[in-house]
Amino acid sequence: MRRAKISIVGAGNVGATCAHWCAAAELGDIVLLDIPQTEDMPKGKALDLMQSSPIMGFDSQITGTTSYDDTRDSDVVVVTAGIARKPGMSRDDLLSTNAKIVGSVSEQIKQSSPNAVVILVSNPLDAMVQRALQVTGFPPNRVIGQAGVLDTARYRTFLAMELGVSVEDISALLMGGHGDTMVPMPSCTCVGGIPVTQLIDPKRLEEIVDRTRKGGAEIVGLLKTGSAYYAPAAATAQMVEAIVRDKKRLIPCAAYCDKEYGVGGYYVGVPVILGSAGVEKIVELTLSEQETADFQNSVRAVKELVAAMEQLLSA
Ligand code: NAI
Ligand code: 2OP
Repeated sequence: MRRAKISIVGAGNVGATCAHWCAAAELGDIVLLDIPQTEDMPKGKALDLMQSSPIMGFDSQITGTTSYDDTRDSDVVVVTAGIARKPGMSRDDLLSTNAKIVGSVSEQIKQSSPNAVVILVSNPLDAMVQRALQVTGFPPNRVIGQAGVLDTARYRTFLAMELGVSVEDISALLMGGHGDTMVPMPSCTCVGGIPVTQLIDPKRLEEIVDRTRKGGAEIVGLLKTGSAYYAPAAATAQMVEAIVRDKKRLIPCAAYCDKEYGVGGYYVGVPVILGSAGVEKIVELTLSEQETADFQNSVRAVKELVAAMEQLLSA
């Protein structure tokens, strides 16, 4: 059986760690690509990772490169290329630099892997995924953003810490953009099947949601030299797995919503069914009045971000 080909553009912290999770789970053969200025860095990381395979017991081939020729005809391309946040920077501060990087990377993907499902990770996520859609011209179901799996994982971690229970017993959903306006969905958050609202009072729950919204900044503040990468990479690998194994996972992703939720042609975090075709269905929930207001607020923030990006690109 042919193994899936997974290319990861950007061999930095998130990209290399994503390669690690994907290899360890034997999701396919992996190509780790970075810019020519990094010289042999991607080759070094790929070889190092390959040399862990006899110990960890996986058979994935991992290739490091600076040439898109090596990524040709990938099934999945993950884009982590760009600069990451430093203390004091917001995700939006990355807008100008990363819009140009994601534009040029998307042009290359269009040429080298025209049938791939593309997963964007670079920030600010909701604008970068829109940029990739514009430049590749791929159908929107094949251009997706990673944010919701990470944000929900952070929320689940904090809820498990609060309640002293296994993370395995917490299922939750966050919607909206990957930023301070992300929308918690208490009606979709359960602990061992029990609605979270029966276990945590509203004030404390709001504090936990607030910590989740600021989860990325909390890690930046601790690391000081960059942003989170273990959890973001694991979240991305879960999306890769859903695609290459056609798992039909129902998970939150940044998906292109037109009529869905009345968004009107933007990427926003919503529950989707993710399989070999990419986003196979956007699941539309009936939102409460508060959830609707919060979601619309988040969509407004995404639209402003995309407008700011388009202004910068046309200047
Ligand atoms: P990093 O600085 O460790 O790695 C970025 C890599 O991209 C570098 O190796 C750099 O050489 C490479 N790169 C730059 N321009 C490129 C180009 N044109 N083609 C190929 N590679 C290029 O940064 P890190 O920590 O890996 O973060 C990567 C991006 O992911 C950042 O924008 C960060 O904000 C974002 N991120 C998004 C998350 C999400 O949930 N969506 C979570 C964590 C990070
Ligand atoms: C995060 O949420 C920086 O977006 C990245 O950690």
